[in-house]
Amino acid sequence: MNANLTINYDDIIGKIDPRLWGSFTEQLGRSIYTGIYQPGHPQADSNGFRKDVIEAILKLKVPLIRYPGGNFVSGYNWEDGIGPKDQRPRRLDLAWKSIETNEFGLHEFINWCRLVNAQPDMAINLGTRGIDAARNLIEYCNFSKGTYWSDLRRKNGAEEPFNIKVWSLGNEMDGDWQIGHKTAEEYGRLAHETAKAMRIVDPNIELIASGSSLHNMPTFGKWEETILDHVYDDIDYLSLHQYYDDYDHDIAKFLASSEDFDSFINDVIAICDAVKARKHSNKIINLAMDEWNVWYHSKETDAQQKPWQQAPTLLEDHYTFADALVVGGLAITLMKHADRVKIGCLAQLVNVIAPIMTRPSGEPSVWYQSIFYPFMQVSNLGQGLSLKVKKEVKAYQINNRDIPYVDAAAVYNSKKQEIVLFIENKSSDSINLNCSFNNFDIQKLLTSTTFSGYNLDLTNEQQVMKLRTSKTTSLEDDCLRAQLEPYSWNVARIKVEV
Ligand code: AHR
Repeated sequence: MNANLTINYDDIIGKIDPRLWGSFTEQLGRSIYTGIYQPGHPQADSNGFRKDVIEAILKLKVPLIRYPGGNFVSGYNWEDGIGPKDQRPRRLDLAWKSIETNEFGLHEFINWCRLVNAQPDMAINLGTRGIDAARNLIEYCNFSKGTYWSDLRRKNGAEEPFNIKVWSLGNEMDGDWQIGHKTAEEYGRLAHETAKAMRIVDPNIELIASGSSLHNMPTFGKWEETILDHVYDDIDYLSLHQYYDDYDHDIAKFLASSEDFDSFINDVIAICDAVKARKHSNKIINLAMDEWNVWYHSKETDAQQKPWQQAPTLLEDHYTFADALVVGGLAITLMKHADRVKIGCLAQLVNVIAPIMTRPSGEPSVWYQSIFYPFMQVSNLGQGLSLKVKKEVKAYQINNRDIPYVDAAAVYNSKKQEIVLFIENKSSDSINLNCSFNNFDIQKLLTSTTFSGYNLDLTNEQQVMKLRTSKTTSLEDDCLRAQLEPYSWNVARIKVEV
């Protein structure tokens, strides 16, 4: 099979917001406890933050981290996580049927974010709480001094305000599993009033409203339309969450997840723009894909987990090579929507459906999942202008939809004067790739890697997976040529002049 790609300098989709490659850490399972925080561990610093985990996260360069949930936030009292640790309450976490010690809270999160070079995306509880808790939290975090909450922050050790810029108005409020689940009308009203109060305290914040929890939610569409009627003028982003699975064990269908992801994004854009038109508004609502990943391996064992444990093993999917290809495909889709999807959070970061895993004791203390590698490449190299990629390639059909055997994203990084190509082969055959560039002066091939040749069903513990240099990629007559291996994820960096 052959695949011909063409990239034009002028065919710009949009600038990739660096926050597209954010992530998420929830007070859930071992994400925090024995994940990023474990006092007494040989790798822990004086605050209990694991240095081995920080080192791994720095490789992923995540610029934004959502916290503290997720489902957890809808039953959370943020005040439980401030002040002397020995006075913090132990609570039932109803979302995950666990015991929350609150040893890790707001200050710990902010201090840790500084160590991993990320800005926080703070989610507020619109499940069991509302305007009052939100206005107090933002006063605590962002007001300088001289009031009850800001002075309490100073008393608790932070003289300077945290100046948290990005805030999420609740989490998955459309889901009946959510503590304090709401109708679209109820959520829309509450989100509007909460946003209003928060912006009075700090007019410089950016707000994300809680969109649909999955593309196939029964309320999808109507939910977005209704809540946008209430919050259109208050918010900057509308969120989307999406997880994929391979319960059918059908690789062609699983790899087609990126196309469903694409339609989900297109659908939400269409709804936002329809509300814009109806409101005669000039404002454009952008999207925050603030939970995305593969999630299914752990669901059966999690259902049998004993309730009310402290930091139990939960959502610890061990990812296969097939999962890594799906994550790569989803990342390509995000880059294709760089004009509207401005925030993304790979869910999650450590231990819980995560690229990074830890052992509470023993060696290696940290190990990488298969999905670590494509995510690391997009977060490090997917920076700049996303360019359209014209494709001539055969497609297969899933649910009456064409799924091209080759999917690709191209990014032009003007600072580095390079084009980065992310190319996935979804076929069981190798493919001859030919990529031409218009209005670029092609200089040389800088690097070319492939992630391929592994058993689709095995994890990184069962087979050691690594990025390899591609031996088949070359530049000939200003064209990039490569033989893409079956089921492969490929990244090429090309030095250019414009
Ligand atoms: O990321 C795991 C869970 O998935 C989150 O808590 C929730 O928001 C979503 O359903």
